[in-house]
Amino acid sequence: MSNTIDFSRIAKARLPELLQAMPKAELHMHIEGSLEPELIFALAQRNAITLSYSSVEALRAAYAFTDLQSFLDIYYAGASVLLHEQDFHDMAWAYLLKAKADHVVHTELFFDPQTHTERGVPFEVVVKGLTSACERAQRELGVSASLIMCFLRHLSEEDALATLEQALPYRDLFIGVGLDSSERGHPPEKFARVFARCRELGLHLVAHAGEEGPPEYIVNALDVLHVERIDHGVRCVESPALVERLARQGTALTVCPLSNIKLCVFKTMADHNLKTLLQHGLKVTVNSDDPAYFGGYLNQNFLATFADLDLDAQDAYTLARNSLEASFVSEERKAAWVSQLDQVFAQFAH
Ligand code: ADE
Ligand code: ZN
Repeated sequence: MSNTIDFSRIAKARLPELLQAMPKAELHMHIEGSLEPELIFALAQRNAITLSYSSVEALRAAYAFTDLQSFLDIYYAGASVLLHEQDFHDMAWAYLLKAKADHVVHTELFFDPQTHTERGVPFEVVVKGLTSACERAQRELGVSASLIMCFLRHLSEEDALATLEQALPYRDLFIGVGLDSSERGHPPEKFARVFARCRELGLHLVAHAGEEGPPEYIVNALDVLHVERIDHGVRCVESPALVERLARQGTALTVCPLSNIKLCVFKTMADHNLKTLLQHGLKVTVNSDDPAYFGGYLNQNFLATFADLDLDAQDAYTLARNSLEASFVSEERKAAWVSQLDQVFAQFAH
């Protein structure tokens, strides 16, 4: 169908409306990164936890990051207000309402169990609270949502293996595993054994690589961990051979533009390499990463990127379609969403 849409008929002025309306998938969103300061304070009060910030404004004012680690320190502190199943449900539900408003038809949510089990919160509490919100989203909003469990790479592989053991009774509640947290100094190969085990279990595999880390981390995520998508991956451009490989294999990159600016991976949005990645034929998707911390949910990411990178309606279509095709759902469900996407573009091109 895409070859019957005349993209040139869609005026630039209508792009913001189109970006908003197009059905899309979000594939890189840390649910703990959707905790808005207001909710952090509300949960702290509900759970009688004292925060080291005096107000919502003071907390928000601390969101001036210089790199990934400076963000992670605040992000883990924010997550400390989550104690009960209801807390996890409320956090995920708040995000899913935003996703619905942004015309997200499907989302694959990262969660970091070790951030919570380390504080004595049982794995079961985390996964059940998140699952009930995902099920409610399908029922009440028509938004499809599934979970990807991430291992924290600053912790040991033994810790990740122990987390996997705790997760096994709930194997049906998550579709895959990922690798996140401090990238530099924690290469993918550190987690070779736990990913091999997850692969045997038939889980989907993804990993953050090439956000702050070098292109070799992307190569090893592919060759050692056997991941199906690369989260971020923007530093792949430093290796022409890797770019050629990613394009040839059709490996999706879950790029997070506002995150990259906030964490100083690129100085400004005009410096972001998303358009270059597209021009190299890479399967780029747009995502929000940690929207409560980085200044916007999915559509804000699209709007900010299109405002500064001279992208057009054809690019919008490619990005939305990539997100649907790179998701871990059946080919039938992908085809149904792609057909919805085609209809929206056909209306705009009419
Ligand atoms: N955890 C939450 N957001 C992250 C990011 N952008 N990179 C690595 N780990 C994360
Ligand atoms: Zn991330």
